[in-house]
Amino acid sequence: MENENILFDDGIHKCISFHFDDENMCESFLGVNQYLIIHKNKAILLDPGSKDMFDVLVEAINRHISIDKLEYIFFSHQDPDVADSIASCAVATPAKLLLPSIWTRFMSHYGLLDMSRILPLYDKGVSIDLEDTSLEIIPAHFLHSPGNFSLYDAYAKILFSGDIGASISPFYSQQKYVEDFERMQPFLEEFHTRYMAGNIFCKAWVESVRGYDIEFIAPQHGNIFNKQTSQEFLAWFETLRCGGDLIEKWY
Ligand SMILES: [Fe+2]
Ligand SMILES: [Fe+2]
Repeated sequence: MENENILFDDGIHKCISFHFDDENMCESFLGVNQYLIIHKNKAILLDPGSKDMFDVLVEAINRHISIDKLEYIFFSHQDPDVADSIASCAVATPAKLLLPSIWTRFMSHYGLLDMSRILPLYDKGVSIDLEDTSLEIIPAHFLHSPGNFSLYDAYAKILFSGDIGASISPFYSQQKYVEDFERMQPFLEEFHTRYMAGNIFCKAWVESVRGYDIEFIAPQHGNIFNKQTSQEFLAWFETLRCGGDLIEKWY
């Protein structure tokens, strides 16, 4: 399945989600959402994913903007479903590679040889410019990776949350957005109780994003939350017991 959705477009600024599935491997394959933000003549790609999918992704990007116009590629964390293609990104694009600082040296294991292409992201996050707009890179550490970031696009009012809000559910192909939070909750619970490190981090992250005007929360897996279900998700996530809070469950 090849899927492409325009989340925002006013002629100046555009946000697109891509999703490529291998139908032959639907039981064993973990589908991802890749996002492209274009502002005027520059773009940033978020969480490009595995190298096997990279050529298809490049083709899809080129339908919107030349790959040469990629100013940045953002990696929310180090997992293979996020960063496996980092060596291909370095070869095929001129982009600066934004990656949590604690993971830079690990990238050699994905075949990245030129570490000067990486712009390390330090713990407190940073604001980056894309032409005349800016994007906020905000801490999401231990949610789930120890070095982990989310990205907020204030122009489009979209919070790109990485694995936070991710779900693996049978609803994915039926609906683009999470319309009914309660129906999705068991799938969110399954993922977040195991992959997130503890409520202390959930609470800190929700506090840091609460002030944002949010139209969508766009995770790296599964459905995108609309304005209403984004708020329901934040309220749920803020009180979630997960990871270390459930130590007796794991040991
Ligand atoms: Fe991950
Ligand atoms: Fe992931």
